[in-house]
Amino acid sequence: MRLFFALWPDDAVRAGLARWSRELHALCGGRPTRPENLHVTLAFLGNVEEAQVAEIERAAGEVTSKRVSLVLDRPGYWKQNRIAWAGASTVPPELEALVSELRGALVKSQIGFDAKSFVSHVTLLRDAREPKGMPGLDPIPWKIDGFALVRSVTLPRGSRYEVLRSWSA
Ligand code: 2AM
Repeated sequence: MRLFFALWPDDAVRAGLARWSRELHALCGGRPTRPENLHVTLAFLGNVEEAQVAEIERAAGEVTSKRVSLVLDRPGYWKQNRIAWAGASTVPPELEALVSELRGALVKSQIGFDAKSFVSHVTLLRDAREPKGMPGLDPIPWKIDGFALVRSVTLPRGSRYEVLRSWSA
C-alpha cells in the first residue's frame, strides 16, 4: 500500500482551504485537490508491505512534539510542476521539530521515505496556469495537535486518501 504521513485539517481549516482553492482556480484554472484530500505531507513513504505497517506505527508513536500553531497566509505557485498551493510566510520551529522527529524515528526504524526536504504546503491546484499576481486571501489559523498516517488509494477518478491512524498531543 502507498502511505504517507500528513497534517490532516479539521473542518474549519478545510473550509478555508477550499475557499482559497476556488479563488485561485478562478485565476489559474487547473485541477483542484478534492476538499476531503487536502493536507500537508510530512513524509512520503510510497509503497510499503502490509507487514511493515506495525513498525511504521510504532516509530510514529515515538514522536513527542505534536503541538504547532500554524497560520496559512501565503498562496504560492511553482512553475516547474504547475502547482498552486497554500503556505505559511513563517514556518514555526515546532513544525520543523515535528517533521525532523518523525523522520528521525523512521530512519531509526529503517523505514524508507522520500528524502526531499520538507516544504510546508498544501497542494490546491495541479496543471494550473501561472497567475499574473497572487490574490490577497484571508489567513487560515490552524491549531495542529497531531498528525496522521494516510493511505493513498488510486481510483479511476483520481486518488482518495484514507486516514489509517492518527496520533494526537
Ligand atoms: P504534493 O501534494 O506536493 O504533490 C500523496 O501523494 C502526497 O504525498 C501528495 O501530497 C504529494 O505531494 C506527496 N509527495 C511527496 N513526495 C512524493 C513523491 N515522491 N511521490 C508522490 N507524492 C509525493
